[in-house]
Amino acid sequence: MELQAEGSLLRYGIIGVGMMGREHQYNLAAIPGALVVAVADPDPGSRQQAVAVASALQLSRPAPPLEVMEAAQSRPEVLVQVGLEYRYIPAVAKLIEQVKIGSIGHVRMVSIREHRFPFLVKVNNWNRFNRNSGGTLVEKCCHFFDLMTLIVDSRPVRVMASGAQDINHLDEIYDGEVPDILDNAYVVVDYENGARGMLDLCMFAEGSRNEQEICVVGDKGKGEAFVPESIVRIGARDSGRAGVLTYEVHDKRVKYEGLHHGSSFLEHLEFAAAIKSHGEHPPTVGLEAGLMSVAVGVAAQLSIELGRFVALSEVLDRKRS
Ligand SMILES: NC(=O)c1ccc[n+]([C@@H]2O[C@H](COP(=O)([O-])OP(=O)(O)OC[C@H]3O[C@@H](n4cnc5c(N)ncnc54)[C@H](O)[C@@H]3O)[C@@H](O)[C@H]2O)c1
Repeated sequence: MELQAEGSLLRYGIIGVGMMGREHQYNLAAIPGALVVAVADPDPGSRQQAVAVASALQLSRPAPPLEVMEAAQSRPEVLVQVGLEYRYIPAVAKLIEQVKIGSIGHVRMVSIREHRFPFLVKVNNWNRFNRNSGGTLVEKCCHFFDLMTLIVDSRPVRVMASGAQDINHLDEIYDGEVPDILDNAYVVVDYENGARGMLDLCMFAEGSRNEQEICVVGDKGKGEAFVPESIVRIGARDSGRAGVLTYEVHDKRVKYEGLHHGSSFLEHLEFAAAIKSHGEHPPTVGLEAGLMSVAVGVAAQLSIELGRFVALSEVLDRKRS
């Protein structure tokens, strides 16, 4: 790989090189001037696979394990971007753009349906237990709560959820324990500005054309995004069904699709631009957005456990104490 002139080369370290870490290796290999120089991972199998990926990509050989970075908040000069890349899925980005330019008016409702396959097998099966991941509504659904909050443009105030583990992983046993993670749920989120969001999650729905269907309704119209069909539909109340516009969305900047429709590649482009701007353009997805997306997930898990609405303040105050 030809290196960029001194000063414009961005050097990356990846902490954890399982499935997602390797996706980032491929993403960065497709970005000029980006170079993975180190990985850290306690699992020898993951390290070996990262070296194999690096060799295949003709990148420099990673040198595991290196020191873990100091916590971002104690180093204000370090730029941090949270990996909420569903914002960058081309069809989702198009829908968000339409909402932000006012095509559907003042947003009142956002519903997100994720109907997909069960959780994949992970290194040492960490994702089979709530105690490791925080639970399904935290670990994987933080993306959807982030999208809701971004689209609604307000603060979540309370959450009510119903969910269970009905089908998946019940026949698996790890060190004598059966997994305890949810495989389906409905979650309702109330926002400060009166808007509401809803997540419909099902992880035994392989027979679906789309994995995500996002629907936003405002006082003027309605917008929908379908992934992976990569279709967006926008309609206005005053032009009815006949006036609904359909867009097929593609982003030519994507050089590596990965498992997330090119979104984790696009988030890297944005992060690299933020680094190169030397503070002029801070990363779009900061720590506050990350915190809120996870806090809604925690509140949803708690709501199922307690059988009642959970206020975000209960979760955030608990986190801070
Ligand atoms: N943003 C997304 O769309 C997305 C998608 C999948 C996973 N994830 C998240 O990415 C993370 C990793 O998931 P994955 O699918 O790559 O899992 P994985 O099991 O494939 O890989 C995780 C890797 O992290 C390593 N690891 C564990 N503890 C470590 C430590 N203290 N220091 C360094 N490495 C450590 C493990 O050995 C393993 O190799 C999880 O937090 C998961 O929720 C995000």
